Amino acid sequence: MPNRNEPPLDTLDHNVQRVHAFERLEVDGVPPRALRGSLYRTGPGLLERFGQRVAHPFEADGLVTAVRFADDGVFGASRPVESPDFREEENAGRYLYSPSAALPRRLLNAMTGRVKSTGNTNLLSWQGHLLALVENALPVELDASTLDTIATRDFGVIDTAFSAHPRRVESLKTTFNFGQRGREFDLYAFPDEGPARRIGGFSAPWFGMVHDFIATDRHIVFAIGPAKLKPLTAMFGTDLSTFFRWDRNAGTAIVVVPLDDPGRAVQFLTETFWVWHFVNAFEDGAIIQVDLCRHDTFGALAAPSSAGPQHSKPELYRFALDPVRKTFRGKAMWSAPCEFPSVNPRRTGARQRYTWLQTFPDAGHAPGVARFDCETGAVDAWGAPQDHLGVEPIFVPDGEGEGDGWVLQMFQDPARRQSYLAVLDARRLADGPQCKVWFRQRVPMTFHGVFVTKGG
Ligand SMILES: [Fe+2]
Repeated sequence: MPNRNEPPLDTLDHNVQRVHAFERLEVDGVPPRALRGSLYRTGPGLLERFGQRVAHPFEADGLVTAVRFADDGVFGASRPVESPDFREEENAGRYLYSPSAALPRRLLNAMTGRVKSTGNTNLLSWQGHLLALVENALPVELDASTLDTIATRDFGVIDTAFSAHPRRVESLKTTFNFGQRGREFDLYAFPDEGPARRIGGFSAPWFGMVHDFIATDRHIVFAIGPAKLKPLTAMFGTDLSTFFRWDRNAGTAIVVVPLDDPGRAVQFLTETFWVWHFVNAFEDGAIIQVDLCRHDTFGALAAPSSAGPQHSKPELYRFALDPVRKTFRGKAMWSAPCEFPSVNPRRTGARQRYTWLQTFPDAGHAPGVARFDCETGAVDAWGAPQDHLGVEPIFVPDGEGEGDGWVLQMFQDPARRQSYLAVLDARRLADGPQCKVWFRQRVPMTFHGVFVTKGG
């Protein structure tokens, strides 16, 4: 019999049931001996505090969930991101930030520019710092061994915001990112060694949502869809999904920033499309090849769910970007509903052969993971049972070959009402998980994560 207190099965519709430090997890199968380190993932796990439910999951406080593969077993933890703003709210006993706060406080926040660092979108590991990210606020540093929150960090350069999608270029040993202040964009470089620095900026053609970007060893590329902010609604409304207007005839703005001269950004409009996530980009003579998951519309904001995009079917595209002729022409590489892409981290900013993608239940497809071969078009895939709810697969390299490694992907099993992490051999996805690591609860949906190797 279902427990009457058990929350419904939409993964974005329940609060975390149990917050816990690292504890031993049950494992079905045998974890790979070579897989040592920790997976960290974050998502909107605290949808209700102070007896008040947030109107949109993007607003919720972050919950970081980790799985550690060690010599003596596999251990897991789920802890909230307790930024100073979060603690201020705990002390006050009510929401003080975001649309859940009382209107006078929201007006005060708007005047003073105060935003809560929820850390609910992504994690970055940089120079030994584990940082929880949300795109409109400062990063929050966590203790990687305990998930204790340490402090918000600006590293001496971040103005007010640090996007949740930093992009590394392996050949430059540098992670790039941006921060958005209305139409103004700040660009940052976080090298593997030495201090972080601001490398430039540009003004976008409108104030809208920008979730991701991509970088090569010579350029930074944005595709700014016409999801334009409605300032009054954002000021007085409560549901974040209503804060943006999809201006379908406005086109999508392409912005190309040369790394050797960031002040000379090229901007032009192309056909209207939306992108949540880029895959990778690389230089190809005078052309920049840009891979991304292309959406026709912006509708997914209204109902983000790990069951799949509800209002559009993203497809894997490759675009040829010519910054001189100002053209951006693309074609679908794979026409299956797919999102949350990744490549071997050693190939970022360079031509990759393989792209790993989350697949969604659809005709002929299951919730799971696929490896798309960009050279041959071949697909190797594994699907969980149709009613399991998956998230972004993370590729962990192991070996010299681009496809050598492991894929880590979390699912909710509705029958067991537990979450599990599937560990797959990236060379043979179709064989299915080599092992499954079980949490004792259903972990709320996570958006993104990072694997940090032992000692890395
Ligand atoms: Fe994202």
